[in-house]
Amino acid sequence: MDTFTYIDGQLHADKVPLSKLAEEFGTPLYVYSLSHIRDRYRELTAALEEVSPLVCYSVKANSNQSVLRELVGLGAGFDIVSGGELFRALKAGADASKIVFAGVGKTADEIDYAINEEILFFTVESEPEAVRISERAKALGKTARIAFRINPDVDPKTHKYISTGKAENKFGLDIERTFEACEMAAALPNIEISGLHMHIGSQLLDPQPFDDALQKVAPLCAKLKEEMPSFQYIDIGGGLGIKYQPDHQPIAPSKFADTVLPSLKELGLKVAMEPGRFIVGNCGVLVGRVLYVKDNPMKQFVVADTAMTDLIRPSLYEAYHEVMAVKETEGTIRGDLVGPVCESGDFIAKDRDLPDFKQGDLLAVLSAGAYGFVMASNYNSRPRPAEVVVDGESYRLARERDSFEDLISREKV
Ligand code: LLP
Repeated sequence: MDTFTYIDGQLHADKVPLSKLAEEFGTPLYVYSLSHIRDRYRELTAALEEVSPLVCYSVKANSNQSVLRELVGLGAGFDIVSGGELFRALKAGADASKIVFAGVGKTADEIDYAINEEILFFTVESEPEAVRISERAKALGKTARIAFRINPDVDPKTHKYISTGKAENKFGLDIERTFEACEMAAALPNIEISGLHMHIGSQLLDPQPFDDALQKVAPLCAKLKEEMPSFQYIDIGGGLGIKYQPDHQPIAPSKFADTVLPSLKELGLKVAMEPGRFIVGNCGVLVGRVLYVKDNPMKQFVVADTAMTDLIRPSLYEAYHEVMAVKETEGTIRGDLVGPVCESGDFIAKDRDLPDFKQGDLLAVLSAGAYGFVMASNYNSRPRPAEVVVDGESYRLARERDSFEDLISREKV
């Protein structure tokens, strides 16, 4: 079933009218479909069934407890990048033995927390980090499992800010160095080498770079597998792209599987992966209300209560998000959809054909389930939006809107 569709001229999330949710919970409002999340998770695991991947959902994409709980129920593991994300995942009921911990700058406290919780492995970005993890594991009297992150130097052909697997990026180790890094780390106390990790970028619309990377790391995997009995995993990261624009062709899981399965089977390792956006990107919309329509000599501005503080992707990456009218309309106007924040960069859509919005109309910004609320801020002292989950005909509040009191609750005078 399509997640966001018009039924009798009203945009629905599953079977729930967005106008009803806006009325009950106010705007701006994030709405996520749990059925969409289940479908995406199952589609991916089914396509890769031959290698039974451990799907470690990337918590950074959308870390709401209701979303994480749904994924726990499906048997997912989690990819985390901070102590805060570990806390969120465990609170949602995650099995620590299915958690992998990434990131270039883990602190000693975060390392201790994860070692004590006995996560599956740390993905390690540098030799000094391996040394630090060994020291902490020794101090705690535990063994820590690690997988070095390899930078395979392939071009993922995505936006430069979300490309991570090229030699010029800060992430991972180059292939030449990784074997020695593994040998060095294997000799450290309280460390076990679990595998190798890579993540070449985000929003990839072509599966080929994944396979290029796998082919590049295959000889190294073979060598490490032979030398180290603990070496079991290839973690291929996240990055599967989704449809943001009408002309986008997202990676179909079946096509992704056709491209990478031969190489994965050849490696003969356990497979882990870390999809974020693929699972949640199109499960969510940001619902807002038009405050004013302003005719400037140069162009029309639709001023809404949705701002860069709620969804920063257009301002930060010039990302395209489809905008729909909640009440179906035929006409269009050309202009910008902007928010109330005091920045020229505060826009959701620029120079676009928009539905012919009138003051008071409701709008929906699509594909806002990933990197939406999690990147929201309180800039201009704007309360962050509420979040609601829907499932078929049912819905419930998943996070209250920030209150004014929340804005100052940590401040001391
Ligand atoms: N694994 C690692 C190590 C990552 O760094 C990331 C994302 C993922 C998995 C999940 O990637 P995904 O499947 O969602 O593409 N804020 C940006 C995206 C930043 C992605 C950072 N790392 C955006 O809004 O497009």
